[in-house]
Amino acid sequence: TVVDIDAAAYEAGEHESFMRKEILEQPTTAQAVLRGRLDERFGTAHLGGLDMDARDLRAVRRVKILGCGSAYYVGQMGAALIEELARIPADAEAASEFRYRDPVIEPDTLYVAVSQSGETIDTLLAVQEVRRKGGRCVGLVNVVGSAIARECDGGIYLHAGPEVAVASTKALTNMFLGFALLALQLGRVRDLSIADGKRLVAGLERLPAQIEEVLAGEADLVEVAKELAQARSLFFIGRVRGFPVAREGAQKFKEISYRHAEAYQTSELKHGPLALIDPEVPTVAVVPLDELTDRNVGALHEIDARQGPLVVITHDEVDLGEIGARRVVVPRNEPELDPILLTIPLQLLAYHAAQHLGHDIDKPRNLAKSVTVE
Ligand code: G6P
Repeated sequence: TVVDIDAAAYEAGEHESFMRKEILEQPTTAQAVLRGRLDERFGTAHLGGLDMDARDLRAVRRVKILGCGSAYYVGQMGAALIEELARIPADAEAASEFRYRDPVIEPDTLYVAVSQSGETIDTLLAVQEVRRKGGRCVGLVNVVGSAIARECDGGIYLHAGPEVAVASTKALTNMFLGFALLALQLGRVRDLSIADGKRLVAGLERLPAQIEEVLAGEADLVEVAKELAQARSLFFIGRVRGFPVAREGAQKFKEISYRHAEAYQTSELKHGPLALIDPEVPTVAVVPLDELTDRNVGALHEIDARQGPLVVITHDEVDLGEIGARRVVVPRNEPELDPILLTIPLQLLAYHAAQHLGHDIDKPRNLAKSVTVE
């Protein structure tokens, strides 16, 4: 199941940029990565391309995710999904650093290379490092038949269709969904209950419509984005599940608006960067309804007390108390899957800030869509 996109029609689309077109395609492209892979009856996923049977999947003791840029940040979201659902220790590392530290490769670790293009040289060389040392590496790749896809032992194609804008949006969403499928399958051959499996399958099935719902709120984000575009420097903050969301939000913002956007764990603010908060430095905070909501809201009060402007990506049920903040509400899914819905408004904020500043959104200065030379 490959999304059928006619190249000519794609080029001639009425959107003012590829990035906006790709953002708006997400409800459809998200369906494509899920299609044929969800099993409602057994509450699991089927990923034939992995080329791993139940025994292979059960033998995995650790998961190491490798990617660059946005693929690295979504890798952190993926690691959290795998730890939560499969209870396997998992982490993500910048593929660009990996091979330089002579990494120990273990046979019971599953290495996962994440790449939209499948051609990023740093990620490709990381895969080669793993395989040269006898490790198993699977790919989460969008471009079929690309170098990384060919180099891997198996994988999950993302089926997002062609992504042209340098800043990744729909491919990143499908990377997250690919990780959700992998985490679900790894979980269900271990201790994840069938009830939890079914709960997540239902959650995944609801997601495309919820992405649509977030996109329908685009108009409300334009003014907020224009305000953020005025700042020379911004913070993006989140905790645990919300932190990779903040990292990805800061990445998008800096890539296309050229503003200094720094991601921080909300919990670490008081250990340093709080000194920088003032009326000139806005903070975009990711505050889902979860076990950390109260602590997150407490940190927002610290920022508010220093007159730091606040934009809060949150859920309807979250009470921010008496602070001056712009609220951006997204629908709730299952808590494990919420990160991707919290990510979508950050794409729109980056997009509209860059648009307001008159930047070349699809081809930001100094950046390439895929970095294929060292
Ligand atoms: C480049 C782009 C980033 C992208 C990264 C990884 O640096 O500017 O936006 O996230 O490559 O690309 P990949 O194709 O491997 O996902």
